[in-house]
Amino acid sequence: MTRHFTTIEELRDEELAAIYALATSPFDDETLQGQGVALVFERPSLRTRASSSAAVFELGGYATFFSDEEIGLDTRESVEDVGRTLAETYAIAALRVRRHEVFARIRAATAERLALINLLSHAAHPTQAVADVLTIADEFANGDVTGLAGLRVTYVGDATNVTRSLAVALLRLGVDVTVAAPDGYQLTSGGDEDPTATNGPGTLRLGADARDAVEGADVVYTDAWVSMGMEAETAQRRADLANFQVNATLMAAAKPSAVLLHCLPAHRGDEITDEVLDGPQSRVWRQVYHRRSAMVGVLRWIKGES
Ligand code: CP
Ligand code: NVA
Repeated sequence: MTRHFTTIEELRDEELAAIYALATSPFDDETLQGQGVALVFERPSLRTRASSSAAVFELGGYATFFSDEEIGLDTRESVEDVGRTLAETYAIAALRVRRHEVFARIRAATAERLALINLLSHAAHPTQAVADVLTIADEFANGDVTGLAGLRVTYVGDATNVTRSLAVALLRLGVDVTVAAPDGYQLTSGGDEDPTATNGPGTLRLGADARDAVEGADVVYTDAWVSMGMEAETAQRRADLANFQVNATLMAAAKPSAVLLHCLPAHRGDEITDEVLDGPQSRVWRQVYHRRSAMVGVLRWIKGES
């Protein structure tokens, strides 16, 4: 059966465990030998494009990049016809899309012939979450993702697609997750990647006071105040989220051993200060490193490894 990776939520615990293991175990270059992987980007990307291209190449395949301007999902032609076209040439397509529904539409149009990977949608960023779990496991459990239970991770700022996938992944591993956000920016129930519906061993706490939420945290995480596509709301978002900046004062409320994570790109001076991003607690470059590991794990799992 064709495997898809479009949210963390849709995967069983044992499937996620396989992806984490495949991300860091030795591999050869025959997994994708001679096969193409379509990389479709409706939005800009640096890390995701770099890590996807590198992982495909390392596994013996080749990546073909398609930009929004070239494909025009539902503008140049329908999402369904794009999917049908890709399925004639590729077995795997990885897409960064504006609307998460694109995945279901391609699955239906191609009768599950094309394996799909979500490289970010409005609802979820699951390959980022795999990289984040690997980074946290490196820091606190010698790389063992099963050793994270009881850890305290606090997300501060706008609860985004990144927050949703991260929270689902961590709750499933027994991590205690707190999200601190102002009214209107907090996690909401429902959607395709729903931490509030995750029956993981971890606990989820939602708060409106950043300092209170960060107190005693092992990990502090933040993401952009203005996600892609929300640029028209920039002034309003800056005003609404001003008390949720991750700066040295806020970091001082976390454990002295706490680390700082950010999916990047960072907006220095908005959600995060230079001092923190470039400081000794920052592990953001290790996260970037693990974007490639994560893609290797996801691609190996898509190809049937376990
Ligand atoms: N974190 C992340 O997905 O970065 P890019 O948008 O640059 O791919
Ligand atoms: N929440 C951000 C993440 C970027 C990697 C966005 O969707 O733009």
